[in-house]
Amino acid sequence: MKKKVAILFGGQSTEHEVSRVSASSVLRNIDSSKYDVYPIGITKDGKWFEYTGSIENIENGDWEKDEFYKNPNGQEILFNREVDVVFPVLHGLYGEDGTVQGLCKLLGLPCVGPGVMSSAVCMDKVYTKYVLENFEIKQAEYVVVNAFEYSKEKEKLIEKIEKELNYDVFIKPSNSGSSVGISKAHNRKELEQGLENALKYDRKILVEKAINAREVEVAVLGNDEPMAAIPGEIIPANEFYDYEAKYSNAESKLLIPANLSEEKLEFIKNEAIKIYKILDCAGLSRVDFLIDKDTKEVYLNEINTIPGFTKISMYPKMWQASGKGYSELISELIEFAIERNNI
Ligand SMILES: Nc1ncnc2c1ncn2[C@@H]1O[C@H](COP(=O)(O)OP(=O)(O)O)[C@@H](O)[C@H]1O
Ligand SMILES: [Mg+2]
Repeated sequence: MKKKVAILFGGQSTEHEVSRVSASSVLRNIDSSKYDVYPIGITKDGKWFEYTGSIENIENGDWEKDEFYKNPNGQEILFNREVDVVFPVLHGLYGEDGTVQGLCKLLGLPCVGPGVMSSAVCMDKVYTKYVLENFEIKQAEYVVVNAFEYSKEKEKLIEKIEKELNYDVFIKPSNSGSSVGISKAHNRKELEQGLENALKYDRKILVEKAINAREVEVAVLGNDEPMAAIPGEIIPANEFYDYEAKYSNAESKLLIPANLSEEKLEFIKNEAIKIYKILDCAGLSRVDFLIDKDTKEVYLNEINTIPGFTKISMYPKMWQASGKGYSELISELIEFAIERNNI
């Protein structure tokens, strides 16, 4: 019998649009001989609908206006356990951060990707640092800025950042994705602007020393015996890999394999698997590194537990280059979710 899979798309985060594109790609390529799909759209204000209209409408956002194919029973499908497994093709907060994972856990439904704790820690850049620094994983030096402290002692915090990190620095909302709210500061004025902008997205901000780096990403897949695909490299079109460079600038390049020695590729794959296990990831994650162009030192940048998932996104492309096609990858992720749920 075919398994019933809920495909969640949209969501309440700043990455709503990106999610729709990822989910459309999943819907077009999922193996329909094995799975019956239940596409469920989540609006930016958090309403859930089953959507049985066209995939194009999901991709371009018109599904929300399509009253005929939009049914207000999105959550009931989960609550009534009408499906066997949930694939949250959602990026960012309220999707990749442990919340949807928690809902599935309460309902006893297998969910693709890491569980509650792992998703939450990986979503939060500050907590990722706190955990990994206990395991000798190299990460960029940093200072944490909290909204309340910033409002009370701005000068002191700015001085601390300048003293400990010096310029340039990256300013990131702790819970961010797709580079939203992230900026690079080359001086005090940009640092202040960057902090104030980042504080619109989160009350906890990570300020990091900028590394003159190459960006290398590793796709990891599996539960107890995770495997890593051939690492890939990003060559951003802008000064750093910002939102525009990620989604609109065709000049950004993806290189698979990353232009590194066999030895270095192997090292980075092992490092990615080690991090995946420490953070108790399951199903999938993309582990992103920064490699210092001068010292060649490898730094962890971040872990994405539901990475961009269109057919031409880095995660599926790295598996493609390693011999695993897109549809096969989707099937494996669903089966890993079911396997993990049994324990
Ligand atoms: N410490 C750093 N040094 C150099 N570049 C960085 C650093 N941190 C982030 N970047 C750049 O900013 C981009 C976005 O930061 P990242 O932490 O990956 O956030 P997001 O979760 O939004 O993808 C990275 O892809 C990279 O181009
Ligand atoms: Mg990133």
